[in-house]
Amino acid sequence: MTLLTWNHACEVGVRAMDDQHGILMDTINELRLAVARGCGREQMSELLERLIAFTGMHFASEEQLMERTGFPGFAAHYAAHREILEQIRHAAQRVEHGEGLKMRPLLCNLRDWYIAHIEEMDREYGPWLNERGVN
Ligand SMILES: [Fe+2]
Ligand SMILES: [Fe+2]
Repeated sequence: MTLLTWNHACEVGVRAMDDQHGILMDTINELRLAVARGCGREQMSELLERLIAFTGMHFASEEQLMERTGFPGFAAHYAAHREILEQIRHAAQRVEHGEGLKMRPLLCNLRDWYIAHIEEMDREYGPWLNERGVN
């Protein structure tokens, strides 16, 4: 199983946000390893809850920075965050209720949502924040 490695191409240029993205990727990697080891539903739910909690915290940090500096893409970015959170919550609920959710495809989707979001949307606020003294 390939683990996610974080490289410079994924950096948004705001230190605290780059650190948080690293933690998000670590958490997803942990989930993937747990699935590979054949972990039970309970542990899976616990890890997904942790991912949801951290994701919510991370999104709130970004939203605060964008709102404070009047970032023009704020509304669209905020909507994208809500959509990702909704998808993870939905997946977590299915795991919790024991529905036959295939974990591997779910984790691939999770990884893709995060990476696409970081590369396409998060990188847009980098220069805007840098110009306003947030590095
Ligand atoms: Fe982000
Ligand atoms: Fe974001």
